[in-house]
Amino acid sequence: MGTLTELGGQAAVCTKCRLASGRTTVVFGSGAPDADLVFIGEAPGFHEDKQGLPFVGAAGQLLEQLLNGIGLKRDEVYICNVLKCRPPGNRDPMADEIEACTPYLREQIALIDPRVIVSLGNFATQYLLGRKIGITRVRGQKIPLDGRTLIPVLHPAAVLRGGLAGSSMKQTEEDFRTIRATLDALPPKLADIPDPAEQLGLF
Ligand code: URA
Repeated sequence: MGTLTELGGQAAVCTKCRLASGRTTVVFGSGAPDADLVFIGEAPGFHEDKQGLPFVGAAGQLLEQLLNGIGLKRDEVYICNVLKCRPPGNRDPMADEIEACTPYLREQIALIDPRVIVSLGNFATQYLLGRKIGITRVRGQKIPLDGRTLIPVLHPAAVLRGGLAGSSMKQTEEDFRTIRATLDALPPKLADIPDPAEQLGLF
């Protein structure tokens, strides 16, 4: 396993599926490479494809607002998508595109090693759970997944469609409070525990 930067470099020139021919830029992901919290969306949209960054359009602005609401900045978390290239016209990802792109996400998660993953919307949630289960049934729940905690939330684009004063916004704010509480309840990482012997210069 190389570094996240090396993996991003490989993805940047990927031609493993048909989406390579229509993309402007590969949208690998952005944020803290050692984040405890990773957000996973579906696929880049128009603005993401142009800028090479995930969630920079209207949905991204709402995501940033929700993050700020729980005291987090964008660069303190990691944000990416299941697919790294934009499907034409934002159509649904096809099975062979998902299969071709899966190794990137798998290795990305292994390298970042987050303790909490938030899936944004139906597609990413069903992909990660490997089950066709509706987002409205699982949103805001803490689901054990390969030693991590998965918390599905509504896709910010769907929240926008429901209006910022609507019930989906209220539910999502509630779900972000669950994310905050989950992070706050994490035990410290071993590397973050001060070693008194080290401080005394014994080793
Ligand atoms: N929607 C997504 O799922 N991902 C993005 O990066 C932007 C919009």
